[in-house]
Amino acid sequence: MEKRYIDILEPDDWHVHLREGSILSTVLPFTYKSFASALIMPNLETPVTNISLAETYYSEICRQIPREIKFTPHMTLYLTSHLSKQQIINVSTHQYIKAIKMYPKGATTNSDSGFSNIIELYPLFEVMEKYGVILSIHGEVTNEKVDVFEREKVFIETILTQIINNFPNLRIVLEHITSADAVNFIKEQKKLAATITNHHLMVNRNIMLSKGIRPNFYCAPILKTEEDRLALVQAAISGNGKFFLGTDSAPHVDSKKVSSCGCAGIFSSPLAIPLLIQLFEDHSSLNKIENFISRNGRAFYGLNQHNERVRYVKRSNPVDAIKNIKTNQGEITVFNPYDELYWEKEN
Ligand code: DOR
Ligand code: ZN
Repeated sequence: MEKRYIDILEPDDWHVHLREGSILSTVLPFTYKSFASALIMPNLETPVTNISLAETYYSEICRQIPREIKFTPHMTLYLTSHLSKQQIINVSTHQYIKAIKMYPKGATTNSDSGFSNIIELYPLFEVMEKYGVILSIHGEVTNEKVDVFEREKVFIETILTQIINNFPNLRIVLEHITSADAVNFIKEQKKLAATITNHHLMVNRNIMLSKGIRPNFYCAPILKTEEDRLALVQAAISGNGKFFLGTDSAPHVDSKKVSSCGCAGIFSSPLAIPLLIQLFEDHSSLNKIENFISRNGRAFYGLNQHNERVRYVKRSNPVDAIKNIKTNQGEITVFNPYDELYWEKEN
């Protein structure tokens, strides 16, 4: 008989934007109810560029987690050339700061403090390599002469390759990969791993653009072709330890997305796990889902594996899936590209 439930080792989200203020308070429960831990991105309006700012942000998040909830926030620093070498050394033994995130200037939301000249960061990469601090990368070039669909590929061929050649022992996560080229590149590199989002696994650029424009599927890096999507699915369902879930859940209120100049970002935390179960089931790969959502990321980040499981049940009729959430700045649409969703977490 078809399986009606699945018990999964608690999942982690290795890339999430929780924002701050009232948006943080509204979106945080969707992360702590679905995940045992999450790596929280530092691109706030005032970017989290040093340890003290990360500690303040961490305290604010922890203050909002109810006592009965077991959830671990892992923090990141936003890499700028002003970061001191001593701060990097301190990160290497910090209790909860787990990575330093590098944004190319202008690549995405709040990336104005990102780098324009990679060479300026070399002295810092040297320290990160020596002390085993993980570099997390938004991998796109920002040169306006490069077509938006080619920006990840060009970043890999130029900047990423250069970093790897100069710092072969630097541990790197290429975030939210989008293409078959990226999958192939990751497989070949020893110290490199990658996160993959729900949206890059489930939708492609035709779905976003061919039958009317769907701003709720607009994100950075932009969705690619169906062939690329299928390569990402193969990577995720393969169980290969180099690939793990980072939802890149990135809430923006609908009025800022459905606009003449809409923001990049997809809010996907609420249904991330049920959608992934359905995807893995459709590919007859439920036996590999724990690698992707629970094990591989922890292994890469050097954390003990979970031993508790959570149960998801499959209903006979489609579930009444959440469509949006309300915030005091407006509604935020929840990512769900499937007509019918059958899985939900057992209460
Ligand atoms: O689509 C995106 N939105 N990609 C990112 O890299 C950042 C994110 C955001 O913060 O809105
Ligand atoms: Zn992101």
